[in-house]
Formats: sequence, structure tokens, C-alpha cells
Amino acid sequence: MESNEKIFYITTPIYYVNDIPHIGHAYTTIACDAISRYKRMKGYDVHFLTGTDEHGQKIQAAAEAKKITPQELVDQIHVNFKNLWQVLNISNDDFIRTTDERHVRTVQKIFRQLIDQGDIYKGTYSGYYCVPDETYVPESSMGPNKTCPDCGRPLTIMEEESYFFRASKYVPELIAYYEKNLRAILPEIRYNEIMSFLKSGVRDQSVSRTTLKWGIPVPGDEKHVIYVWFDALINYMTAVGYSDDPETFAKYWSHVRHMVGKDIIRFHCVTWQLMLLALGVVLPVEVIAHGWWTYNGEKMSKSKGNVVNPFEMVQEYGLDPFRYFLLREVPFGNDGDFSETALVGRINSDLANDLGNLLNRTLQMINNYRSGIVPACENSASNLSELAEKIISKVDDCMNNYCFDEALKSIWELIGRANKFIDETMPWKLAKDASSESQAKLNQVLLNLYESLRISALLLAPFIPDTSKRIWQQLGLDGEPVKMFIDKFEWGSASGAKINKAEVLFPRIDLKEWQKSQDAKLAQKKSEANIMSVMSENTQENHEIDIEEFHRVEMRVAKIIKVEEIKRSKKLYKLEVDLGYETRTVCSGIKAFFTPEELEGKHVILVTNLKPAKLCGIESNGMILAATVKTEGNTEQLTLITPEDKSLPLGSLVS
Ligand code: MSP
Repeated sequence: MESNEKIFYITTPIYYVNDIPHIGHAYTTIACDAISRYKRMKGYDVHFLTGTDEHGQKIQAAAEAKKITPQELVDQIHVNFKNLWQVLNISNDDFIRTTDERHVRTVQKIFRQLIDQGDIYKGTYSGYYCVPDETYVPESSMGPNKTCPDCGRPLTIMEEESYFFRASKYVPELIAYYEKNLRAILPEIRYNEIMSFLKSGVRDQSVSRTTLKWGIPVPGDEKHVIYVWFDALINYMTAVGYSDDPETFAKYWSHVRHMVGKDIIRFHCVTWQLMLLALGVVLPVEVIAHGWWTYNGEKMSKSKGNVVNPFEMVQEYGLDPFRYFLLREVPFGNDGDFSETALVGRINSDLANDLGNLLNRTLQMINNYRSGIVPACENSASNLSELAEKIISKVDDCMNNYCFDEALKSIWELIGRANKFIDETMPWKLAKDASSESQAKLNQVLLNLYESLRISALLLAPFIPDTSKRIWQQLGLDGEPVKMFIDKFEWGSASGAKINKAEVLFPRIDLKEWQKSQDAKLAQKKSEANIMSVMSENTQENHEIDIEEFHRVEMRVAKIIKVEEIKRSKKLYKLEVDLGYETRTVCSGIKAFFTPEELEGKHVILVTNLKPAKLCGIESNGMILAATVKTEGNTEQLTLITPEDKSLPLGSLVS
């Protein structure tokens, strides 16, 4: 049970480092950032944690492919996430990596404790295993005829010694807990999903592997490594000092909330909670599950080339428009569709038109009619002040329920009302009338508009902190809104402030120009997609061919000797390949997966008798063979098919 202390501990999932950061990752982290900033402004002691999940089979395989150690790989790649959080202005208090020494120590301590109390025991694990991928495949995700869903090869039943967590023992206790704590899983649809899953029964869970090396060793039995999810979930406890700082742990743990995507709620609402019950530790206050983002209505995938890159979006449209869009566009908990058209729509209407214009008009009028000084007035109350009061409490309600879109909608209700207030009160008319009555009314109107902007800036600070700061500065106020307390707002107290020069907050995007540049981008993408489909022709279709047909394909061993960027293309590299008897230029759609350094010197298999094709104006003479593999994060990775024997002469025929 949570106490009444003003403490708030919020966590994002820790992200797999074998994936490039995309808007899905950005969304969870921005949502946690907004709630953290909001709670700080409500006077809470906030601890906001994010980090990276760095163990497991896929990392080991990716490192092997790059001929570096897994540690070297994760040291290089986790930085992508750290950089993104900087770019997105994320205010996390800690960044945990599962390879941190503090974490390894905590996981081993917990594992040992559970062995000692009899909740982890040794047994035999049996399951469907993909030998080439070295991974177990749950029956629910097997392909047709018991094949691997990633590589399509047949699975074999494998048995190995494994440690098991006695999960089943704690299920009744967990059901009873959830029955009493209806807000422990949000939204309700996820609560119901978990309850019916729990009631259908939970088996003891295998929590170690002997088939894998890259993980935390089981203490005292080092041929086993701890299963990656068992290791990963513990990060939330490590970070607040479970194993070495009991004071910090006691302070934060009973206030912990986990924000996660809907795909990983079973881990968080079943496995994790059963582990915590076994450890005798308080259960999290809430697990909040959000929906998934698609792009223009389609699932994002590397091979489709439609993974939305948050770095690019920020570069093209600006940070705060991107943050605003993600939080405003979908009701929290629902799936959402990301489209640049919708983003541009929001920039022009909500940000440039509604918010930007209100600020501009108000500042100009204070400048023109009151020489830039916010006037005083006898009674500052108005229907704007009444609305503002309601909205402050509505926003609070929304934030307590993680309804970011509703909170923003409410703030825009105030902004919209203030814009209307200008039209209704017509300050330009009041200004022309020198009577003391009109002048007093003008003072009241200007003060009310100013206060609406001041409160809007404060309320917006958790969502779009930079913009809020810019508004604050233009209003001539000291300090930074994110460091203020929302509850300390006093309507009317700003009179006497000297405003600064009005500057455009968000330039309107010229839709015609924007559409032109989008069309050019789309044309470019289409030509790349055509090339890709020519390249992968026949590989998708499941029809039989005879041996003659197969022999018509000429494949030879080749070596990549030069890799050039094609600036206009996100997917293609221009490669020079050496066939021993000649060199050729090949355009290959593998840019998203490899750096030029990783490719240069690689021995590959080249289809040599493919009709030449013009890609991005370059003639391509052949196709390099590669296979796609799905990572644990369900995104795709590409592996080049290379001859095992590197001494094979270049040009050797493959049959
Ligand atoms: N490493 C695990 C989490 C361990 S937490 C103890 C993991 N990592 S992940 O990188 O694959 O996913 C991290 C989060 O990103 C998940 O919450 C997942 O739901 C979210 N998303 C991944 N793709 C997404 C979208 N397309 N849209 C929204 N969120 C998505 O799972």
C-alpha cells in the first residue's frame, strides 16, 4: 500500500540494445518524462528511471556477427538510447544498464535468496528449440509444421537442466491482491486480460539457460546463465538500492509505477509480481500499459523501411511539436497511428494558430496599449479565471490517470476560450475609448489574457518544456516554469510585470511546399521499394521451381571492396564488388543494417546474372544474398550470407 508521502517513482521498460530507437521507445519515455515533470511541479520527490536491457541470445549473436564481444557491442549501442533521451529533453534521474555491476550483484543476490528459500529449484526444461538460432520457441509462436517463426527451419524438441521459479505457489495470493487493488493494472482492459490469464493457471517458470553464455551466471552454478527477463525485471529494484542502499529502497519502492507497452504486460503483471511476492516485497502501485504505434496505418518494420526515426522527426519538425503530437494524438492506452500529415496538421492548428496567435496577439496589445507593462485592475476575476481553476484540477485528474491527451485537450480549452475572449471583448475598441470605464475594462481584459498565458505555460511545462520556457520568457517572467509549483498559482498577481518582445513560437508550415517535399520523398522511397522488390523477387512466393530453373540463377563468391553512401537514399549503398575476374557496381538495400566499415572486406554471395537495374541513377549489376532475422524486440535484422571458407577463390560458382 502506498503511503501519503509525496514520492513518485516511475520506470520505463529497459530497451533492448539490439534495436535502433524508434517512436515506440520515444513515446514511453516521453510519457514518463511528462508525468515526472508534472509530479515535480506538484511538489513530489520524483525518481524517474530508464535504461537498457543488454543480455540474451540476440545480443550474443549480433556480437558474433560483428566479431566483437557482447560487452563491446552493448557498450557501443546503448549510447544510441542515451543520445536520444538527450535530444528528446528527457529528465530521467538514472539510467540503468543490466551489465552494470550494481545490477549483476542484485540479480545474483535475489537468485540466491530464492534458491535458499526453496522458491527456485533445479529441474529439466523441455521445449521446441531452433538449433541454428540457438533459441527456444514457445508453442504459441511456432510457424506452420513446428518451424521457427524467425528462420522458418524445423524445430527440434530439446531438453536441458534448468532452474525453475516456483511461480505457481504465489498465484492465489496475486489474484487476491488484484481483486482488492483495481488500479494496480491500468487501463481496465489490461487488468481484465491479466486476471483471466492468472485464473487460467500459471506454471513454474524456467529461469536459467545452459545454451547461452551472455547473461548473468547463476551464483554457484556457472554453467547456467539467468534468463534474460528474470534478470531484466530486477533492474527496477537494483536502481533504488535493493542490495546495497536499504534507506533509498525503503523511500522509493512503495511508490513505484511501471509504464510499459501492452506487449509486455504479462512479464510485468504476472512474472514480476510473483517474483516480488516470493521476495516478500511490496507490489508496484500501478502498471500502466500503453498501446502500439503504427506508421500510416502499417506496422513498422525495418524491412518495410517504415520505422519512424525520432531523431529525424525532431530534426524536421522540432522537438516540442514531436512531443506534443505523441502525447496529444492518442488516448493513452490505445493504439495510435503516426503520420506526418497529422503532425503537420497539429503544428499548424494547435501550436501555430491557437497557442502561437494567443501569445502574439496578447503581447502586442500589452505593448501597444500599456507600453509593455501588465496592468493592474480592481477585480481580476472573469470567466477565464473560473475556467482556469477548473482546468487546473481537470489536468490533475487526467495526469493521475495518465490521460495525457485529455490533459492537453483541457489546456487547449483554456487557450481557445482566451482567443475567443479577445474577439468578444474587442480590446482595440476599448483602447480607442478614453473613458475610465473602458480603460478599466481594457486593464481587466489584458490582465486576464496574460494570466491565461501564464497558467497555460505552467500547465504545458511537463509536455513541451522548451516552449513553455519560451512563453515564460516572452511574458517577462523569471525562472523556469518546470521548476515552479503548479499549486502556487495566484490569478491576477502578475500585474506590473514587464513583457519582452513577442516572437513567433511556431512558424506555420506552408502546406503546398511541404506537400511538394513529401511527394519527392515518396517518389524516392517508391523507386527504392521497386528495386528492393526486384531484388527479392521469387523469394517471397511459395511456388515450386524445377532444377533447370534454379540453375539459371548464377551465384558467385564476391568480396565487397568499396562502400559508398548514396546521399538521396536511406536504404541503398553503392558497392564495388570483386569477383576475381572483374569488379562490378551493385546497389544494395542494406544501409539500415550495416555501416560501411562493417561491409568493406566482407565475402558475400552475389547473383551475377540479374538484369541490370537503374537505382537512384546508378546501374546495379547483381544482388547480394542476405537473410532477415527477427530480434527479441520483434524488429528485423539482416545477416549477409557469407561463405564459411574465406579462402574460397573469388568468382567461385555457388550451386
Ligand atoms: N527489454 C524488454 C523490456 C524489459 S523491461 C524489464 C523490451 N524491450 S523493447 O525494446 O523491445 O521494447 C521496449 C518498449 O517499447 C516496450 O514497452 C514496447 O511495448 C515498446 N514498443 C516497441 N514498439 C512499439 C511501438 N511500435 N509502439 C509503441 N511502443 C512500442 O521489451
